[in-house]
Amino acid sequence: MNSQSLKRAPVLPTRVSGTFWGSDLVSTRDLGRPGVEAVLHLAGIMKARPADFRSTLAGKQMVMFFEKPSLRTRLTFEAGMSSLGGATFFVDQTQEPLGTREKLSDIAHNLERWVDAIVLRTFAQNTIAGMAAHASIPVINALSDLEHPCQALADYFTLQERFGDLKNIRLAYVGDGNNVAHSLLLTCACLGSKIRVATPKGYGPNTQILADAQAIAEQTGAVIEVLSDPQEAVEGVDAVYTDAWASMGQEHEAGKRAKIFPPYQMNQELVAGAAPHAVFMHCLPAHRGEEITDAVMDSERSVVFDQAESRLHVQKAILYLLLGGETRLPSRSAHA
Ligand code: CP
Ligand code: NVA
Repeated sequence: MNSQSLKRAPVLPTRVSGTFWGSDLVSTRDLGRPGVEAVLHLAGIMKARPADFRSTLAGKQMVMFFEKPSLRTRLTFEAGMSSLGGATFFVDQTQEPLGTREKLSDIAHNLERWVDAIVLRTFAQNTIAGMAAHASIPVINALSDLEHPCQALADYFTLQERFGDLKNIRLAYVGDGNNVAHSLLLTCACLGSKIRVATPKGYGPNTQILADAQAIAEQTGAVIEVLSDPQEAVEGVDAVYTDAWASMGQEHEAGKRAKIFPPYQMNQELVAGAAPHAVFMHCLPAHRGEEITDAVMDSERSVVFDQAESRLHVQKAILYLLLGGETRLPSRSAHA
């Protein structure tokens, strides 16, 4: 897209952007196909024209409670909100889970009196769903044991930038069928794209997530395959993706998992089966020498830092849509 067409590009029709104003993002399912497409479209415009959005969330405030560590998610939410003119408050919740000191519903009824949005990184998905059920302001999932929706949106934004139309893009995920794999499945389903997930036996995706992704896929034409053979999964694909073998909170299982997962390591031998133009992906943090080798992570076809950059643009698009940024758009952008 050249700069002239970007200037003329409409941001989003009100009927689309307005749909998400005040919504939660607990699961990718909350966005559905229109929401996922809206986030990706808007992220592209925000990346190209950041100055146009500089004060579109001025006066908005957001609180972030994180029960687990974070580099990318925390800083992209903070930098993203700041670049839109809003403010964030970070609460380190790593010492005790939310809901320990007081009831989740009581926390929700405090926060909704003070700020405009709540961002949560938790162990239990139910903590995020529970906060959303009680709070009258948007609640955003910044990773739980079950889903990492913002990550997968950024990953598909990265693929869209690289390949354009996502419909015929084939992504292979190899490794643990965990939060990131779940969100890739749901996002792929919403976009009508193609995904293969290969995991060791006993480490496959959550059955409810898979069933929901398949139900969405029936509407969108997405193709979802769950396998156990990593070589079969990567055969001819456009992108190969992996994640940690032992996620945050599973550190005590690291020894056991280190014996099971090596056939799923993203190494040169495995990625050789992908298409010659295939890109290599990881949500990060990477455990080099475990789920991914240095040679793959540092190769010219690795897009791991593009994915990290995409987190920023996508976070901004999510905040803008959920917090009603459109109403504050500079008129030149809205009507040019
Ligand atoms: N990918 C990701 O969510 O990174 P952080 O854990 O550093 O936020
Ligand atoms: N599956 C990983 C993702 C980290 C961004 C974890 O939950 O630790």
